[in-house]
Amino acid sequence: MVIYFQYMAKGKAKAKSKPSPKASRRVATSGDIEVSTYLEIAKEISGEQPAAAKEAVPSGEREAIIVIDFGSQYSLLIARRVRECQVYCELVSADTPWEKIAPLNPKGFILSGGPGSVYQDNAPMTPAYIYESRLPVLGICYGMQVITHQMGGQVAPGAKREYGHALLHLGGVESPLFTNVPQSTPVWMSHGDKIEAMPPDFNVLAYTDNSPFAAIGNDKNIFGLQFHPEVVHTPEGKTILKNFVYRICGCQGNWTMGNFITDSLAKIQQEVGKGKVISALSGGVDSAVVSTVIHRAIGDQITCIFVNHGMLRREEVERTFNTFRLNMGMNIVYVDASERFLERLKGVTDPETKRKIIGEEFINVFEDEAKKIGKVNFLAQGTLYPDVIESASSGSTAAAKIKSHHNVGGLPSRMTLKLLEPLRYLFKDEVRQVGLELGLPEEMVWRQPFPGPGLSIRIIGEVTKEKLEILRAADWVVMNEIKKAKLYRQLWQSFAILTDVHSVGVMGDYRTYGYLVAVRAVTSDDAMTADWSRLPYDVLARISNRIVNEVPEVNRVVYDITSKPPSTIEWE
Ligand code: XMP
Repeated sequence: MVIYFQYMAKGKAKAKSKPSPKASRRVATSGDIEVSTYLEIAKEISGEQPAAAKEAVPSGEREAIIVIDFGSQYSLLIARRVRECQVYCELVSADTPWEKIAPLNPKGFILSGGPGSVYQDNAPMTPAYIYESRLPVLGICYGMQVITHQMGGQVAPGAKREYGHALLHLGGVESPLFTNVPQSTPVWMSHGDKIEAMPPDFNVLAYTDNSPFAAIGNDKNIFGLQFHPEVVHTPEGKTILKNFVYRICGCQGNWTMGNFITDSLAKIQQEVGKGKVISALSGGVDSAVVSTVIHRAIGDQITCIFVNHGMLRREEVERTFNTFRLNMGMNIVYVDASERFLERLKGVTDPETKRKIIGEEFINVFEDEAKKIGKVNFLAQGTLYPDVIESASSGSTAAAKIKSHHNVGGLPSRMTLKLLEPLRYLFKDEVRQVGLELGLPEEMVWRQPFPGPGLSIRIIGEVTKEKLEILRAADWVVMNEIKKAKLYRQLWQSFAILTDVHSVGVMGDYRTYGYLVAVRAVTSDDAMTADWSRLPYDVLARISNRIVNEVPEVNRVVYDITSKPPSTIEWE
């Protein structure tokens, strides 16, 4: 699941003012943590604060690359790219004290890009300890300009922004940073200010037609890149980053998911001791992996509560239950609360009210079940690294934002639970790898995102049992055909929507007046923007044929050919 909430300006003062309907935006955060976020909200209301960052990085031969975040939209991507090189990497703000960084055993620093100019008042600068550490430094874009500015070179305000592809030519002094990089290679530029003069003792390593100083370096292992090696538009970017972490920083590359699991098991055992843990299973990847890793560490000390709100897809309940109970042998409390949810949704047509009701009711059901378990010490949550970063940088957690939207009630205050968040240092792709290593089925690990309120927001208008069954049947066909065509993983999401439109059709000798089903299939990287997928006509034909044949209430199928923006992925 992906968290979903009404977008409100960050910060308390603004969050209080009601957004105008026009300003209202639907925003998704990464990860399927909606369920656990409800619980986090509940805990905050009951007076307990979420746990502070804990040690969860591999101890052993610890090594890390630290990215100083100057605010680029690509900062997190740099961290991901470094981790793809099997080197642990954390993103920190420029005012982070050395004492927080030292325990990670940094082997080098990367200074990110950023929207600022070194000449602005209060422009963020590299902390002195970075140069004093004598560790290698790689400045990217703004990071390079900061190095230049601080070390005695000259940065000139750019009259116009250079944005897009450029051809990089290696030249000047040879450097291990460019080992195995072709003599000329495309790179992605996105900068305003530019370097006019290098700091003393720096050499040009590469140039483009527009930037004589596209890559510079000195013999103290301080480097600057005018372009962005972290984005896919720089095809050799990964080689350059790999060269930096291995050839220049001398990293060993011990960040593997196997090591992560070994390390996490020991940490979870140590932290939990003989305590009891509860988790909320949703069928999504994050809650599945978090529950499984904890179960691997402490066995039956964890109980998973799986609330069926009745808005799940066909066979979703059985699949989730079988995976965890039968295959993994986990302790599961399964609650079929579908009637309870349906009752509360009776007559409700407004999309946001549907979400609010489901959020509230989820807490109620979870609370009822948790009470029955008796004394519990920990609540497991599938918090991921991007959520940690987001809450650290904006000061407002995803939960806080959802809270502003879903005014949910709290767990009883006697339930003073500590948070257990073993995935809080992982990116989504790493969570998937952990899931596979733990033996979770591929089908679950690669599941497309599914919204917390489930099918309720794919039924336009009131949700009823009958409509849910119709949608499940149509949706089953879409999923089935998309999987058969081997398109499932390429698509961000693919599903059916039951509209409230009826239209006339003809079947055999008589006329019908049936439902209109829409099919939606989109590609996307992060759900913030999405493009409608150009599904092959024959796949669309099979989907349409099967739906009208297999779902008697439906006599017309349309394909949604709008992108986001201006549309959203979901219809409600
Ligand atoms: P939209 O429709 O805003 O969706 O383009 C973006 C992403 O968020 C998911 N989504 C939700 N996820 N609770 C969730 O957990 C929700 O209420 C919700 N609404 C939308 C949607 O499936 C897509 O991936």
